[in-house]
Amino acid sequence: MLHVRQSIADFIMRRDFGVPSYAKDVFISAGFQRALMVVVKLLARGEGETQTGVLTPMPCPHTLPALLDDAGVKLVPYQLIEDRGWAVDLDELRRALKTARGHCKPRAIYISNPGNPTGHVQDWKSIEEVIRFAAAERLLLLVDEVYQDSVYGQGKECISYKRVLFEMDKEYSETVELFSFHSLSSAMMGECALRAGYMELVNIDPEVMHFVDTMLCTDISAPVTGQLALDLMVNPPKPGDLSYEIYTQEILLTLATLSQNAQRAQEFLNGLPGMSCQPAMGGIYLYPRLRLPSEIIEKAKILEVEADVLYCQMLLEEKGVLLGAGCQYGETTGNHHLRLCILVLPDTLEKVLAGLGSFHLHGHTSSP
Ligand SMILES: Cc1ncc(COP(=O)(O)O)c(C=O)c1O
Repeated sequence: MLHVRQSIADFIMRRDFGVPSYAKDVFISAGFQRALMVVVKLLARGEGETQTGVLTPMPCPHTLPALLDDAGVKLVPYQLIEDRGWAVDLDELRRALKTARGHCKPRAIYISNPGNPTGHVQDWKSIEEVIRFAAAERLLLLVDEVYQDSVYGQGKECISYKRVLFEMDKEYSETVELFSFHSLSSAMMGECALRAGYMELVNIDPEVMHFVDTMLCTDISAPVTGQLALDLMVNPPKPGDLSYEIYTQEILLTLATLSQNAQRAQEFLNGLPGMSCQPAMGGIYLYPRLRLPSEIIEKAKILEVEADVLYCQMLLEEKGVLLGAGCQYGETTGNHHLRLCILVLPDTLEKVLAGLGSFHLHGHTSSP
């Protein structure tokens, strides 16, 4: 719907303090994952040394490896630096790229900011570094900014890649190819079932944009109700509107809950033996590190499952608590992780932490 595309462009312009945005560059899809699939399929080509590779953070959203595999592109892992609050590190990006060359042809880099499942939020300098890296290595930027309105870390703000790009010299702002994604399901409104999202294309060849448009039309189109909800998301009630008060209260409450839950869970997890958790600044997850006892590791080997998956299965069976296993693709550090969703009522979080704590302390923790 052209009207919704225009609303989105207006929203982006307000968000980025006047950096221009045009409806013709905004594409609506049935959610982030459909949009990403369309783009990645356009990038997919070659095999062996020439197969398209996409630099992907480790850890990454759990659905991403399967999506890339399905699209026929190779996942090229780069490690986020846990001890530095899951920072994106330039040397690590260079290492990952160098290692990949010869095995595939890296053509794009995927970024999750604010990070899923790590909760990190990149600052201006870090974003600028990634843009320079992408420019130097001729990589397309695929920037997942679906948690852009869920930033609660003190003094933190979500800065969009586009805003930083447009503050840079022309050699970057007019050349670096950027796809920026947002989604109704992951925004504050959290309307998962309505299925809608959008991507904004920057510095993309018009011929390619034509293909994106065609592929989105032949893909599952975003439902009209989803598009209308998207319109509301980018154009929320204003002072004087009937629903302004209630809308503002709900948004503030959700943000306050996220912030409190993040702090509470982080403190709790850091108090458990064998667990450590970096503070989260945004998004809806914590990603604590877990040192597992040798019995679980041995048992997992016998059952041929990942040790963190087994830990989560046992936790579910014994305490009725469901957490996500870290399952880091290609993890070789011997560390394990858990994915804890903190977008829940504080009472629910308390129950989850109590169940996890008693499970962990009764025989499921490794001695230091
Ligand atoms: C990082 C990230 N991006 C996007 C999505 C969701 O995308 P969609 O709009 O397809 O629901 C999720 C949630 O699954 C997510 O965690």
